[in-house]
Order: sequence, then C-alpha cells, then structure tokens
Amino acid sequence: MSRYAELIFEGKKYILPVVEGTEKELGLDISKLRDETGLITLDAGFKNTGSNTSAITFLDGELGILRYRGYAIEELAEKSTFLEVAHLLIYGELPNKATLSNFQKDITMHTLVHEDMRKIFDGFPASSHPMGVLASLVCALTAFYPNALDPNLSPAETDLHIIRLLAKMPTLAAWAYKNEMGHPLNYPKNSLSYCENFLQMMFAYPTEDFHPDPVVVDALDKLLILHADHEQNCSAATVRVVGSSHASLYSAIAAGINALWGPLHGGANQEVIEMLQEIHANGGNVKKYVEMAKDKNSTFRLMGFGHRVYKNYDPRAKIIKGACDNVLNKLGVSDPLLDIAKELEEAALKDSYFVERKLYPNVDFYSGVIYRAMGIPTEMFTVMFALGRLPGWIAQWREMRQMKLPISRPRQIYTGATLRPYVPMGNREK
Ligand code: ACO
Repeated sequence: MSRYAELIFEGKKYILPVVEGTEKELGLDISKLRDETGLITLDAGFKNTGSNTSAITFLDGELGILRYRGYAIEELAEKSTFLEVAHLLIYGELPNKATLSNFQKDITMHTLVHEDMRKIFDGFPASSHPMGVLASLVCALTAFYPNALDPNLSPAETDLHIIRLLAKMPTLAAWAYKNEMGHPLNYPKNSLSYCENFLQMMFAYPTEDFHPDPVVVDALDKLLILHADHEQNCSAATVRVVGSSHASLYSAIAAGINALWGPLHGGANQEVIEMLQEIHANGGNVKKYVEMAKDKNSTFRLMGFGHRVYKNYDPRAKIIKGACDNVLNKLGVSDPLLDIAKELEEAALKDSYFVERKLYPNVDFYSGVIYRAMGIPTEMFTVMFALGRLPGWIAQWREMRQMKLPISRPRQIYTGATLRPYVPMGNREK
C-alpha cells in the first residue's frame, strides 16, 4: 500500500488505503471502516462520497473538463455523431466503420414499439407530462420483453435489450408529445437517421412531406452528444442503485428518467425557459431577478446556474452557448429570451454572490433556447435530455453489472425515539 491515511479513534490508529484514479483523483477506501471501528461515514447528498470506480466519464469540475472514455467533449461534439458516442460510452471504444454501420442498422430495425403499447397511451390524459409518460412506458417495456427480468442474460441477449432501448426511446418520446397534442401518432421511418426520424415522428403531418432542416438535425445530434453522460449524477446514481438489486435494465432506466425529471436536475431546462419567459413578461428587469436569487428569504434560484461538481464554467454550456447563436442565425430566428439569458449571465458573473460560490451557467442554461428555435415545446425539454442521457445510463448500468458490484444499501445514524412500550389506543392520553 503506497499511500494511505491514518484515522485515530478512541486512541487506536486505523489505516485507510488511498485509491488513485488514472487522472490522479484520490479517494479514501473506507470499505472496512465499520468492521474495524464500528463507525460509518455521514455525507448527506453524497457530496464527498465515491460510490464506485468507473472508466466511462472523467470530469474535473474545478477546471471545467469533461471527457467520455478519454475523448474531450469539445472534440466529440464537433466531429462525432450521437450513435457513435453511444457506442463509445456503452462499449468503451469508438466503433470501426462496419461496427458502427451494424449498430445503426440494428437500432433502425427496432424502432417500432408493440402495437399493444398504443392502448397504454390511450389511458393517459392529454394533460400528462411527457416525462411521466416516458418513464411509465419504458418500464412497461419489461412486460413486452419479459426475459429482461432474468439477471443472468447472455451478453448477446443484454445487447438486444440495449438496442431496443436506444431504438424505441425516440418513438416513445415523440408519441408522448403526440399524445399530449391529441395528434395521430407517427410511425418511425427506416430510411431516416436517428435524429431525422425523431423529428419526423414529432413534427410530420400525415398529409404533408416532411424534410427536417439539416441545421436542426445537426444541432439535435450535438445536443444529444453533450448530454450523453455525466458520471455519477443523480439519475446515473439512481440507475446504478436500482440496477444493483438486479431489477431489469428497463426498470433501472425508467428510474433514471424519474430522477432526471426533478427541477434540480434535468427538469431545470424547462424551468430556465419558464424563468426567462417570466423575466421577459415582467419587462426584462434582469437585476431584480439576480437580487431575488441572492435573497435567502426567497425560494427563487437562478435556474440553469450552479452545479454540484462544476466550480467553473460548465464546458457543455460553453459549446451550447456558441451553438445557440449559430443555430438561431441559420434558422433566421431571433429570440428575446436569448438576449435575456446573456444579460442574466453577464450580471450574475459580475456579482460577488455568484463569484464567491463559483456559480456558473450549467448545461441547461442555453439548451432550452436552441430547443425552442427547433420548435420543441418546453415540456419536452427534459425528455430531450433523457434521450441524450440514455447511452450514459446504459453504460453506467452495464459497467455496474459487469463489475458485479454488490446491492446498494447505505447506512444511517438513527435519531428517532428509543425503545418505548406500546400503549393500547384507549389508554393513550393524546
Ligand atoms: N441560484 C442562487 N443561489 C444558488 C444557486 C442558484 N441557481 N445554486 C446554488 N446557489 C447557492 C445556494 O443557495 C448555496 O448558498 P449558501 O452557501 O449561501 O447556502 C450555495 O450556492 C451552494 O448551493 P447548494 O444548493 O448547496 O449546492 P448543491 O451542490 O447542493 O446544488 C444545484 C447544486 C442543485 C445544481 C444548485 O446549484 C441549483 O439548485 N441550481 C439551480 C437548478 C439547476 O440549474 N439544476 C441543473 C443542474 S445541471 C444538471 O443536473 C443537468
């Protein structure tokens, strides 16, 4: 053991080995702590807790670095495609030409969902939030592919479920939107690329030819790449926890979708646009909202600002901010919300409250402006995030299962009542 820390508890010394990652990150291995000392660690929100080692994604929040399997996010966003990145994340390497072609073909051939699933759609009221519909339907896939419940599937059988998920999520996501609109559902078209097909299922009208704008297709592909993984965040950790009980891949991914839905996680992209709309509707007084976000008596927060791990500009936000101007220009769209977002960012980044707390725009701050320009409605923003994050969740799940990690089961320090006698109802004073 080359590096270690010493813990002295009640006069006795314990050795805690130090684990070092390939990027020189250090962690204390406390796996024997309770057995040796009777102590557990307390860390609400897991701010200092590593749940596992992982070879998928590296991020350095202080320096604003994000890499998938060693490749810089900036390079992947510029040169790669979403399905190539999905393969990279899940299987660890960039595919060669033949492998990528087969991967794309397999996904294309599994985009249809079972017709009986349409009956489930019929049961959702039009007021259903598409994230709830998506999570329910992804979980329902277990009913249509029941062998997914077997925790000892062969690699080939597991790969087929992975392909099904990647293929069917866009169909289910677009149908969740169509259900909300009360429109007829569009079926997938095998001649289209992954992103073109999704846009077709979202926006094509049965009576018209539909040709998605290449600018929109390209921007969507980039956005999906930027969202594809982010190591042990709330939803990835959820996927791993659920998967650690050997629940099916579909159940674990449905759990991840639910975790992503919250406004402190993926739900922030919807909240950002609603916040910008509110600022715009109230005359664009950016300063007032910055003051409100600083006021500890107010529950208002600058949505799309701050991050658990980035204490520097989120590298994804930097790319999306650049893409925003580009996409809006190419589409000939001018959006006052983009001006407000930029003004808000400028005001916050000059303000000592945000500077001292190292609060910078995160991935959600500008993504909504691009989605709006593409015609994607606000309540679908988090669904778009889920579509992008899917390969990351699958990669995290697969790595967890391949490493044969034990079931996730945290400890606690109990602070409730100690043992007390049961008093029958009639004898209780209150
Ligand atoms: N606006 C105003 N103040 C903020 C904000 C914000 N957006 N974010 C953090 N702060 C303040 C907190 O009030 C706290 O101040 P204090 O030290 O005076 O108490 C300090 O900054 C630290 O914030 P925490 O909430 O303790 O940080 P944590 O790491 O737990 O939370 C989070 C991170 C949830 C992302 C937070 O910054 C936030 O709520 N941001 C807005 C929601 C958002 O954009 N979420 C998307 C995150 S990216 C993603 O999940 C894809």
